[in-house]
This record gives sequence, structure tokens and C-alpha cells, in this order.
Amino acid sequence: MEENFITDSKGRRSRTSSRAERMDLKAIVSSRRCCREFTSQAVLNEQLDRMLDMTRYAPTAGGLQSFDVVVVHREQRIASLADACKQPFVKGANVVLVFCANNDRAAKYGEKGPNYAVQDTTLAACYAMLAAEDEGLSTVWVGAFDPKEVANIIGAPSGVIPEVIMPVGFPTEAEEARKTGPGHRTKDLDELVHDEQYGERILHHEPLAH
Ligand SMILES: Cc1cc2nc3c(=O)[nH]c(=O)nc-3n(C[C@H](O)[C@H](O)[C@H](O)COP(=O)(O)O)c2cc1C
Repeated sequence: MEENFITDSKGRRSRTSSRAERMDLKAIVSSRRCCREFTSQAVLNEQLDRMLDMTRYAPTAGGLQSFDVVVVHREQRIASLADACKQPFVKGANVVLVFCANNDRAAKYGEKGPNYAVQDTTLAACYAMLAAEDEGLSTVWVGAFDPKEVANIIGAPSGVIPEVIMPVGFPTEAEEARKTGPGHRTKDLDELVHDEQYGERILHHEPLAH
């Protein structure tokens, strides 16, 4: 790997990966868009495996990995998930991942446990989402559903709470065109980032946009 150095705002030098490698991640992150229309092309098992494998590398509270992923292939079960979300487009996905917070695994954190489990779960889902992008697949993050209904569909025990439903597949041409169309609309950084104290504006960041 080619090694470069960066200097932080305090003048400290540290090693970083080559610019080319960082560009790859940048391209993946900035080109990802949610997709709600998929072709019938099957997601390959090895693509799915690589996506799922990536979840293991997400940071988690105490390294406890308080999340589970249920992989749903069966058409009937996917349809039930779509009904539970009241979002019919979910039916069009090739495979659907249900990311669940595992409260039992985070139990040692007491009252804070469920919150940590949710954070672990959403990080894992985010890693899977970016890995999908790297595979040429598309996804959408679905958070609007009744967790009890979804838990019932996937047979999750109590303490295992569905948090994110992620349809996965190949995007239709229209979705692909939308992705490469006019830029991703995001807030300006100065609306999101504060300098030292809340409300103090910070500027001069290099935007991620391509
Ligand atoms: C917590 C959360 C919940 C979401 N819930 C839904 C949902 O229920 N249905 C849906 O179609 N999209 C849902 N989305 C996707 C957002 O609408 C989408 O990410 C947002 O509009 C930005 O678009 P982009 O993903 O293309 O950048 C959700 C996203 C997040 C992070």
C-alpha cells in the first residue's frame, strides 16, 4: 500500500492510506442513494456474504456486537415484511435484511444497553449498505414499521428488536439514472457542524461532493 501522511489542525503528522484508496470510499459514500425499484436479477450469494461479513467490522459498544441480521429470501416472507411496513416497494427486492438490536447481548450496560444495541445495529446496517454499494447493488433503509409485527414475521425472540429493514437488489435503469442525475441534496456543512460550541459556525471543509 502506498503510504501518505496528513497533518492535522494541531500540526501532528500521521500516516494515512493512499489518496486513490480514500477516493474509492469517497465515491462509494457519495454515490449511494436509496433505491426503491429493483430488477429481478438475483443477488449472488457471494455478494450477500461479503455484505454480511462487513457488518462484523463495525464498532460496537464494548465489542459486544449487540445486533443480529435475519436474511429473508422467501417471496412470501418478503411480502409479509412489505405489508408490515405498509411499503409495497419492499416486495420488489431480491433479498431483504432485517437488522435487529440484541438487548440481551448488551445487558451488562443496564439501562443504557438497549440504546447501545440500537447504535450497534445501525452501524452494522450502515456498513452493509456501503458494502452493497461496493458490490454494485442498491439498498434502502426502511425504519417505519411496527417492530412487534416484524419480530413475529422473522421469529425474533423477545429482547431481539427489529430496527432496520433493508431491501437489497440491482437498481432498475430509472433508479440508476436518478443516482447519477443531479447531485445529492444535502444540507450545507455549516448547518451541521459547530466549532467548539453549539451554534458557532465552522466553514472551510472540503465538500464530499464529486
Ligand atoms: C432512520 C431512517 C429511516 C428511514 N425510513 C424509511 C422508510 O421507512 N421508507 C423509505 O422508503 N425510506 C426510509 N428511509 C430512507 C430515507 O428516506 C433516505 O435515506 C433519505 O431520503 C435520503 O435519501 P438517500 O438515502 O438517497 O440519500 C429511512 C432512512 C433512515 C436513515
